[in-house]
Amino acid sequence: MPARVSIIGAGPAGFALAADLQNHGKDVLVYSHPTHQQHANKVKDRGSLRARGAMEGFVHLELTSDMGEAVAFSNLLVLTVPSTGQETVLHKLKKFSLHLHTIIAIPGNLFSLIAAELDVGCIFETNLSPYSCRMDKDGLTVLGRKNLIYIAPFVQRGRRPHPSAYAAIQDIFSMELRWCSSILEVCLSNVNGVFHPLMMLLNAGRIESTAGDFLLYRDGLTPSVANAMLAIDRVRIKIGEALGLQLKSAVEVSNECYGQGFADFVDLARNSPPHNKLRAPSTLDNRNISEDVPDLLVCWCTLAKKLGVDASPIKAVIVLVEMATGVDYMETGRNLRRLNLDTLSQAELIARFSPDEPSRTVANVVAGEMIPSRL
Ligand SMILES: NC(=O)c1ccc[n+]([C@@H]2O[C@H](COP(=O)([O-])OP(=O)(O)OC[C@H]3O[C@@H](n4cnc5c(N)ncnc54)[C@H](OP(=O)(O)O)[C@@H]3O)[C@@H](O)[C@H]2O)c1
Repeated sequence: MPARVSIIGAGPAGFALAADLQNHGKDVLVYSHPTHQQHANKVKDRGSLRARGAMEGFVHLELTSDMGEAVAFSNLLVLTVPSTGQETVLHKLKKFSLHLHTIIAIPGNLFSLIAAELDVGCIFETNLSPYSCRMDKDGLTVLGRKNLIYIAPFVQRGRRPHPSAYAAIQDIFSMELRWCSSILEVCLSNVNGVFHPLMMLLNAGRIESTAGDFLLYRDGLTPSVANAMLAIDRVRIKIGEALGLQLKSAVEVSNECYGQGFADFVDLARNSPPHNKLRAPSTLDNRNISEDVPDLLVCWCTLAKKLGVDASPIKAVIVLVEMATGVDYMETGRNLRRLNLDTLSQAELIARFSPDEPSRTVANVVAGEMIPSRL
């Protein structure tokens, strides 16, 4: 059972996890990159972090901007930077020998595939952040805590983490973990790729003319927007089918993660408390686009092409976002070349990521072949 955890990323998701872990008796060190100190500096200036909402109180946090300290503090490193920041963090981590360390990337978005050169014990990836949370001038607001998140280890050459690693990972999360067959199943279950880019794109005029003065889900996810999301979701599910996966719909995944029972996108947008009070961002220059288009939609689109799945709805969103922002996301995003999957044939891709057995739980993980990371 890890008594200490290093959290790499000092934003709302990292702070919420840090506060939760400390409340559960763990020692936590939060790392923020030297050029991404805005939230860490506020906590330092005030001497503590104020949490409100689903977590309440003042939290004293240990902070560092020295990756060496974070690596020495714990053998469990939890990455809570956006996937667009993972390569910056990777650059720092590459300097260390981490063969006794375990990394959990929240969310993964296939971090393991770009971290191939890292000398690390094992990597786990989640689909979503365990908390819905935001920073504001007063501190951290936790809008919701998920009931469940999806997770999988990166399995290389059939070598799975030791069963003790699964139990240790479960120990740091206060919610149920759904163990998936692969990091690809987890990435396809990051339903932010279904919700965010279309909600931004189809409300772009309103975002720019009001500087985001409306509620993104409640006012922006209307029946026509929901229809467009359904088209994206059908492609995502077909990609899963081509890999032998039975993916749930985006609404079902969201319902499962938040412990809700909404009938459809519009019902969720109007009535889900962690969603229906979220204000729209003030510009399109926001991670709903800059993270979810390159690191989810581009990945799904290029996977679909390799698997012979028609991805026109996803491609349409990417092209429109590229036209609106001027950014070549197909080139800069997590396409198969950047994920080091481009040389695989269709059959090899399917063989590598198809489930070869039912989803594992902590209870039914068979004795692994990999030397356990010591957590
Ligand atoms: N918060 C939520 O409710 C929520 C829900 C679902 C999923 N997620 C996902 O969870 C992850 C973390 O969320 P968050 O809200 O905590 O994100 P965030 O505030 O945007 O970023 C977390 C931390 O990473 C830093 N960072 C950003 N880019 C970086 C880079 N290139 N190199 C190094 N550090 C960098 C940020 O610094 P700056 O402040 O300088 O950018 C911040 O300190 C994201 O992938 C997000 O999509 C969050």
